Amino acid sequence: MRGDKTVKLKIAVAGKGGVGKTTIAGTLARLIAKEGERVIAVDADPAMNLKFVLGINENPSPISELKDLIFERTGAYSGSGIYKLNPRVDDIIERYGAKGPEGVVLLVMGTIDKGGTGCICPESAFLRSLLRHVLFKDNVVILDMEAGIEHLGRGTARGVDLMLTVVEPGMRAIETVGRIKKLAADIGIKNIAGVINKATDSGMTKRVERMLEELGIPLLGVIPYDKVLIRADMDAESPLDTGGKAVERINELKSRILRVSY
Ligand SMILES: Nc1ncnc2c1ncn2[C@@H]1O[C@H](COP(=O)(O)OP(=O)(O)OP(=O)(O)O)[C@@H](O)[C@H]1O
Ligand SMILES: [Mg+2]
Repeated sequence: MRGDKTVKLKIAVAGKGGVGKTTIAGTLARLIAKEGERVIAVDADPAMNLKFVLGINENPSPISELKDLIFERTGAYSGSGIYKLNPRVDDIIERYGAKGPEGVVLLVMGTIDKGGTGCICPESAFLRSLLRHVLFKDNVVILDMEAGIEHLGRGTARGVDLMLTVVEPGMRAIETVGRIKKLAADIGIKNIAGVINKATDSGMTKRVERMLEELGIPLLGVIPYDKVLIRADMDAESPLDTGGKAVERINELKSRILRVSY
């Protein structure tokens, strides 16, 4: 802990599909909690696999599936088509969050089925309200995003202190980071930083570093390609429990993130 001050850092992890967002988000969450901080990890990806990285075995209910609760809280049961935009959500973390090792609390947002043109408004309003609530609480929040950040609205984005963009050596991953940077600025996120993941050789890493520099994205860490992580993934094991070079580097990344005040 930094003195006796509670850290209120809110980090969103974004990047192209498969670059390692969930691995980094979940491992950072556990490592920051190890420092004595209260950490909430939010799985905002429809694939919902953050729990494995956090070392959580139970299956937490995806919030979007709590239809009765959502309809009750938003008032959508009335059938009038009118529903509350700010439903009560202050008990949701306690009731539906799953606790993992180090006390990290996982919230799984779930997906909203937009099938056809049916109105999905109450569900969206509920999730938005919950995310805002989580982002303005007094603790550390790590948001594992799906590949794009398009669904992050302005209201939510204002609560994000740092957008951590993960990039692997490859043109598409770098283009995605460039796009995320523009979007992040558009919705009012002030700090953006990059992490190179799955780094193989230093020549390649240097090239990616230069590209990030051209994009004006400061580099916070380089994480090597590590087979241990593939095995952890296949065995549904938490990377922090298997250890290895990549995890060591994520630990260094954590220290660097905690040293800066955002
Ligand atoms: N440094 C690394 N070295 C080797 N493999 C890695 C590394 N980082 C992540 N991986 C592996 O890459 C795969 C994708 O990682 P992960 O699920 O974290 O990516 P993601 O960006 O969250 O993907 P998605 O976009 O599907 O959510 C996993 O099998 C993971 O174990
Ligand atoms: Mg993921």
